[in-house]
Amino acid sequence: MYGNDQTRQLQKQSAGFLSLATKKASTVPVKELDALRQVLRFHEYRYYVLNEPLVSDGEYDQLYKLLERTEQADPALITPDSPTQRVGSSLNQGFTTVQHLVPMLSLDNSYNAEDLLDFDRKARELSGLDTIEYCIEPKFDGASISLIYENDKLVRAATRGDGVEGEEITTNIKQIRSIPLTAAFSKYGLQQIEVRGEVIMSKKSFAAYNEQLAAQNLAPLANPRNAASGSLRMKDPKEVGRRSLDAFLYHISFFITDDGWKMSDEGEEKADIKKHLSGNNLLASHSGSLELLWNLGFRSPQKEKRVVKGIQPVIDYCLEFEAGRDDLPYEIDGMVVKVNDVVLQENLGMTSHHPRWAIAFKFKARQATTKLIGAGFQVGRTGAVTPVAKLEPVYLAGVTVSSISIHNEEYIREKDLKIGDTVLIERAGDVIPQIVKSLPELRTGKEKPIAFPKQCPVCKSELYKEEGEAVWRCINIECEAQVVEKMIHFVSKDAMDIKSFGEANVRKFYELGFLKDIPGIYTLPYDQIGALEGFGKKSLDNLQAAIEASKQQPLHRLIYALGIRFVGETTAKTLANAVNHILDFAAKSEEELTQLEDVGVKVAKSIHGFFQNKQNIHMLQQLEKLGLQLQNQKKKAVAAGALTGTTFLFTGTLAKLKRSEAEAMAEAEGGVIVSGVSAKLNYLVVGEDAGSKLEKAKKINTIKIISEDEFLQLMTK
Ligand code: IVH
Repeated sequence: MYGNDQTRQLQKQSAGFLSLATKKASTVPVKELDALRQVLRFHEYRYYVLNEPLVSDGEYDQLYKLLERTEQADPALITPDSPTQRVGSSLNQGFTTVQHLVPMLSLDNSYNAEDLLDFDRKARELSGLDTIEYCIEPKFDGASISLIYENDKLVRAATRGDGVEGEEITTNIKQIRSIPLTAAFSKYGLQQIEVRGEVIMSKKSFAAYNEQLAAQNLAPLANPRNAASGSLRMKDPKEVGRRSLDAFLYHISFFITDDGWKMSDEGEEKADIKKHLSGNNLLASHSGSLELLWNLGFRSPQKEKRVVKGIQPVIDYCLEFEAGRDDLPYEIDGMVVKVNDVVLQENLGMTSHHPRWAIAFKFKARQATTKLIGAGFQVGRTGAVTPVAKLEPVYLAGVTVSSISIHNEEYIREKDLKIGDTVLIERAGDVIPQIVKSLPELRTGKEKPIAFPKQCPVCKSELYKEEGEAVWRCINIECEAQVVEKMIHFVSKDAMDIKSFGEANVRKFYELGFLKDIPGIYTLPYDQIGALEGFGKKSLDNLQAAIEASKQQPLHRLIYALGIRFVGETTAKTLANAVNHILDFAAKSEEELTQLEDVGVKVAKSIHGFFQNKQNIHMLQQLEKLGLQLQNQKKKAVAAGALTGTTFLFTGTLAKLKRSEAEAMAEAEGGVIVSGVSAKLNYLVVGEDAGSKLEKAKKINTIKIISEDEFLQLMTK
């Protein structure tokens, strides 16, 4: 997409804009507006398509704001394809139905080598060829979309719908940063084009999204596919933007050339392609189309694809990919095998349902059906009572599943779950299994509803449900279940990470009376534990060492470990950065808390409530006496750091660090990054090909000019 020269050029322009962007209320001259947009598109491509950003998030934001300020000063300057126009301001008012330019057919499926051999045999028979060239690529597990570009601009995006008609979702699609709003199809002689692809949510974003749902006591989604397709139909485009969606584009289904020639999946004219497009045109093969899309800045499976001759290497590649599917950052449910030559595709044609030139190779199912044989109820650390479905044990993608959380009453109603039902379950990636649906058509009439208890199954106190919430809760804070669950959470991997403690030991020590609350973790009776069966000296030493080490965990881990409702790992980090000492929160009002990033009214209320509770404050004081870190170490270091207030500027290309990393290191030590050479500058760090800044700095003798290595030494002092 961008050659080396262009990359350097854009990066240079970017640096220029950046120094302007840092000036308050600055705007760019109208004649440079296009260049600034180019720079932003370039950074979006580096970040979202290549995953190799050249500027920090903060720098990107500054450039974006510069463009936004300029456009706001004169709205007549806004163009529909400006990077600022991704973020739609208005809500979607329902979605209109649109007709696809050509029907979006689905693919026939294959499940094993024999099926693929069969597919190849038929294709050879029909074409009269001995060997066929295939292009193989992943089958992305997301939601299908169609994009139409006219005169290089994205003009319409639609869901697949029933294949003939879909829903128009252009505003939402514009939120996906790996989809370019402009793409230079005209360079290839194309005036209008329809591109098909799949919107996906990466495993990481999916896990983060489910974590967010869980923090709000909402049931998680079963798989990233549901998350992606649900996101595309959301009313608020801004919310779509927050979901970190991505898109792979893998098929060109229709185009019109500059001279008015049309080619489509349905058309009869593919054989003429060479007449209308120059001989070496990329569009003559499927792999070429992927390359063309890649060249224009789309995320196509350019690196994932493989072109081979004959069916055996197709089979090999499919199996190779299946073996590695867990290592991919996104879900795929198979591979797609396509005849590579477009003219041959045309000759093979299609049946009423599927093209004959392509087939999906489906991986082994991560779904299974089993019987729901009963329901249990668990009390969590916040008192939430969670129903758990007991299942007839079933093997599913590496584990035997015999119980599965069914979250809350609403979820049970939505999924229409009854005891005795046959249910479809699924395990996506490394995510815990979920129920996809029940199969009411298999009911016998003997199924029973799942009855929710009125009392806490552990302490028997009455359960409550807050208005607008789906969850029943035990509000007795002395409820044994809650006390134990809180401790289990405290020692867990993402919290204080006390290795070799674990759930089993928490339960055991609690039952034996060795442990009754969180501070008790730090005053365990080791002599008594040592006398227990199964606790040799070595395991006892390990446990003791792990507990001791956890005292040094940074503040954000402790905050997360406290298990304050709605405070996940991210919020915990925000909170830790906001104070010098955890007890500073006791003096903060709800309103002050809402000033923090991503802390809404509900979260603020919960944090405030936690720090107004005397028992909690007492517990924190105890923990401090026991030697835990209740101070923000980072802030302390910065305040005391020898480099506090020292100014840094980097110039030239650094060999070991990215510019943004180096800057972050300096800042972490209390340094301040400045944008230009002046008498206020203390250190100029010089990389390769340093230019005018170095020359200028040489003239000011108070500036210390140092190399990257010297800088690194300074950081480790
Ligand atoms: S090609 C005419 N390629 O799988 C060819 N489809 O049943 C059209 N899919 O509806 C599709 N990854 O949503 C193709 N690399 C890929 C794909 C892919 C996922 C989806 C697509 C389609 C379904 C096939």
